[in-house]
Amino acid sequence: MELTNSSAIVTGGASGLGAATVRALAERGARVVVFDRNESGAKQVAAEVDGHAHVGDVTDPEDCQRAVDAAAEAAPLRVAVNCAGTGWAERVINREGKPHDLRAFEFIMRLNVIGTFNVMTRAAAAMARTEPLEDGERGVIVNTASVAAFDGQIGQLAYSASKGAVVGMTLPAARDLSVVGIRVLTIAPGLFDTPLLATLPEEQRRALGASVLFPKVLGRPAQYAQLVVDIVGNRYLNAEVIRLDGGIRMPPR
Ligand SMILES: NC(=O)c1ccc[n+]([C@@H]2O[C@H](COP(=O)([O-])OP(=O)(O)OC[C@H]3O[C@@H](n4cnc5c(N)ncnc54)[C@H](O)[C@@H]3O)[C@@H](O)[C@H]2O)c1
Repeated sequence: MELTNSSAIVTGGASGLGAATVRALAERGARVVVFDRNESGAKQVAAEVDGHAHVGDVTDPEDCQRAVDAAAEAAPLRVAVNCAGTGWAERVINREGKPHDLRAFEFIMRLNVIGTFNVMTRAAAAMARTEPLEDGERGVIVNTASVAAFDGQIGQLAYSASKGAVVGMTLPAARDLSVVGIRVLTIAPGLFDTPLLATLPEEQRRALGASVLFPKVLGRPAQYAQLVVDIVGNRYLNAEVIRLDGGIRMPPR
């Protein structure tokens, strides 16, 4: 898909995988809306690519509508990438036998699942109103799960449940949106070197990298962004969940 004269929206675009995606899409000519609750980060990344910063919360449907409207006003919306999300570590029962905190579970489901739902549905509605391109294609939606959707580790109950839901939305969303020429794919990253992992000591980061099958390093955000660009460019890719993980299979802990 040709990205010049198109707009794109990237949630979580102020940091990590999202920021790399903003840069990659802008490099290919898209006008990008950086949607993030981190105001300074969103403004900084948007300024770098001459894009638009939308400071807001993906769990708020009205914020999501405003972000999508801003993208659609700039140019036909062709690409939506959901990267806003976070993790949570808590076991089903803790060492004292206390059950998993429901509010924490709800928070993770709200951010990782409902946030993705909010932007996906609103972006799809805006894409559906655009003129179709070659072969009737109108747009592409890329959501972000995690290998934790499949290899959930000890303490990843909430995170794995939320990423499993993102995986589960892929096929029905692609089927629903096939009639309007919108493709839907999910990337399930392994271990990536983002601000999330940057807080760990160097030794621990090296050990994590060494646990990857090959190459034995943490993934770089630019490699995630490259896959988004490849997905956008290859119109025969659809309804698939793609692991991007150097072959890692996560152990129980
Ligand atoms: N880094 C990894 O190793 C890894 C692995 C697997 C999956 N993922 C997934 O990839 C996605 C991006 O991760 P990352 O490592 O780039 O994280 P990150 O923390 O670097 O970036 C996440 C961004 O999302 C934004 N955000 C959080 N809550 C938001 C909200 N409610 N509304 C709007 N913006 C919000 C944050 O401000 C931040 O800028 C997440 O969904 C994460 O679960 C990351």
